[in-house]
Amino acid sequence: MLSPPTTTCNMADTGVVEALLLGLEKAEDGVDSLELSSSLGVEHQVVVGAVKSLQSVGEVISAEQRSSKHWQLTEEGVEISELGSHEARVFECIPVEGLLQSELMKLPFGKIGFTKAMSNKWIRVDKTSEGGPLIFRSVQTIVDQVREKLLNVLNGKDAELEEKEKSELKKRRLLSEVTVKSYWITKGSSFSTTITKQETELTPEMIVSGNWKDNKFKPYNFEAMGVPLDCGHLHPLMKVRTQFRQIFLEMGFTEMPTNNFIESSFWNFDSLFQPQQHPARDQHDTFFLSDPALTLDFPQDYLQRVKKVHTEGGFGSQGYKYEWKVEEAQKNILRTHTTAVSARMLYKLAQQKFTPVKYFSIDRVFRNETLDATHLAEFHQIEGVVADYDLTLGDLMGVLHQFFTKLGITKLRFKPAYNPYTEPSMEVFSYHEGLEKWVEVGNSGVFRPEMLLPMGLPEDVSVIAWGLSLERPTMIKYGINNIRELVGHKVNLQMVYDGPICRLDT
Ligand SMILES: *[C@@H]1O[C@H](CO)[C@@H](O)[C@H](O)[C@H]1NC(C)=O
Repeated sequence: MLSPPTTTCNMADTGVVEALLLGLEKAEDGVDSLELSSSLGVEHQVVVGAVKSLQSVGEVISAEQRSSKHWQLTEEGVEISELGSHEARVFECIPVEGLLQSELMKLPFGKIGFTKAMSNKWIRVDKTSEGGPLIFRSVQTIVDQVREKLLNVLNGKDAELEEKEKSELKKRRLLSEVTVKSYWITKGSSFSTTITKQETELTPEMIVSGNWKDNKFKPYNFEAMGVPLDCGHLHPLMKVRTQFRQIFLEMGFTEMPTNNFIESSFWNFDSLFQPQQHPARDQHDTFFLSDPALTLDFPQDYLQRVKKVHTEGGFGSQGYKYEWKVEEAQKNILRTHTTAVSARMLYKLAQQKFTPVKYFSIDRVFRNETLDATHLAEFHQIEGVVADYDLTLGDLMGVLHQFFTKLGITKLRFKPAYNPYTEPSMEVFSYHEGLEKWVEVGNSGVFRPEMLLPMGLPEDVSVIAWGLSLERPTMIKYGINNIRELVGHKVNLQMVYDGPICRLDT
């Protein structure tokens, strides 16, 4: 996108522009921007602005940058130019009857002033006096040359000072040398005291009237930067989620509807054959809802089959052999995993004539965790589920290999693990080239028959599934060590604005 030509001319002080042009008309050779600023009584920067704006309208003026060195008074120098040098002030404060040296030293200018006044031979010390050394004037009058020199500099007459004098005052930190950049301005080839405003746009009217032939156009500024677009930015988690979603879609998976953070314990735990005494179902691990506290609407026949498989078993299982309570299943919670949605989807699938499916979801889950640098009470779970006839552990390993290869992870290892609702279960490890070690990248398994058969799925259908968190790969990808820098109220929005797009396979 081309930005329109800059309009510095409108921004410059028109009064200063006018004064500059008038001054230039009268001047024999040229005008110095510094002199102009002091004669107009405006900041030098304002004159520089006028120069820049005139430069942008063609050859009205030409300006050559110069740098010159100037002497200026330091803060202390200004004070001395007003009150006199330390030594002069020492001289002034000594009465005819003399002043105790100890008293003199208490004055702010006493120490330096005393030394200088002594070396100028303006004062003398009488050490014979009883009350301590007394200071007397040793001359009638003095000339405060330091102050006079400083006043010269202040009035722009520093040329009257010798270099040696200036460097001496510099050593006393009363003067400092500054480099000032200014412009030497001369008339340009098309100098005029009246400026015709340059057109910035070619309008249809100009074309119709033919005015465009005589109009002066402002040249395009091809160096101008584009205006940063005021647009939304995706959070790194959302960028990485997009990539994972893409991988699942490429593998032919369908996204599950995970738009319910609140779930009943029934779908979150019971349907997954997770016993009601399981510690994960305690409030130390799970957030329970107080309002509405319960869900009452369940498919009753399915609920009865779930109850039966928990208490008595069935389908070749002996169950958990405890008293299953519907009240426990009714309790509403913030879902602890998206597998609750997978359970709903598999139940729905079992109510139709079975066809193989591949489902995925990437959404938020909640656990009552102790917060630390890598754990929050909510995170995103990535989950893949495949339901088909006669799936084996080999199919699970194969699909995991395919999935992780798309992430750029090729070296995988599997470790037997335990999950309440999968058997067998495997933790997935990958070799991290940077860390030079095997790191856990996910969890997986084959859903238990105690979960699938009460739903009504055919006996020869197996369901394999795996999951991982979205936060961990995101933190690795974006080099974030503390999760609070990624999620929560302490997130630096600039991190979100500046975050690059995400490519997982590189
Ligand atoms: C979370 O667990 C802690 C103990 O670990 C408990 O004190 C707290 O009440 C729980 N929070 C909720 C909201 O249940």
